[in-house]
Amino acid sequence: MPEAAQVRQPGYPIEPLFVKRWSPRAFDASSMARDDLMRMLEAARWAASAYNLQPWRFVYALRSDPVWPQWLDLLDPFNAAWAKDASALVFLFSDRLMPAREGSARQRSRSHSFDAGAAWAQLSLQATAMGYQAHAMGGIDVEAVRQALAAPEHFHVEIGIAIGRQALPVRLPPALRERELPSDRLPLPQLAFDTSFPRGA
Ligand SMILES: Cc1cc2nc3c(=O)[nH]c(=O)nc-3n(C[C@H](O)[C@H](O)[C@H](O)COP(=O)(O)O)c2cc1C
Repeated sequence: MPEAAQVRQPGYPIEPLFVKRWSPRAFDASSMARDDLMRMLEAARWAASAYNLQPWRFVYALRSDPVWPQWLDLLDPFNAAWAKDASALVFLFSDRLMPAREGSARQRSRSHSFDAGAAWAQLSLQATAMGYQAHAMGGIDVEAVRQALAAPEHFHVEIGIAIGRQALPVRLPPALRERELPSDRLPLPQLAFDTSFPRGA
């Protein structure tokens, strides 16, 4: 199995961590030290956010926690089929509301999801740097997550995150094995424009 950094060739020199991070589904079902997970959450804590409001919230469980089987049921069956071998699961929430200012009701935030995305990115890069991989999952039962984890209504349920040590694809159901490859990206000129959008973009 080639390393992601061998398959992915950046167009300009960047820190190797950015191409080393990817989203495998084959994990080795090993246990994770609680402190390892705390280090990933700590990296997320230092993300930038609008007004430094830090609207992200994380609810986590290690595979040794008794809630593990119930938490797998919060994932779409497709995701549960591989995430069962992760070492930790994290659900990421973001606060839709900004703190109240004198005398006025709490206003809606325009950037709560954007900010939470920055926190996810930092978590995932820290995981890769520590020899793990973190795999984001939008395929979750949002209302079941809200209820099971007692999330207040003003928190948006963003994603689930499966974190583990990568294993060989043979662990995966056959249909997923051939998809277990690091993906490529659109070329930079399709994404970044000098001074204005090109016609027809
Ligand atoms: C918000 C979000 C939701 C995602 N949801 C799922 C999911 O439900 N199941 C899954 O297998 N992968 C999911 N992914 C993983 C993406 O498919 C993956 O990040 C993308 O294909 C890019 O590949 P890479 O992360 O390996 O670089 C999700 C990623 C993000 C950022």
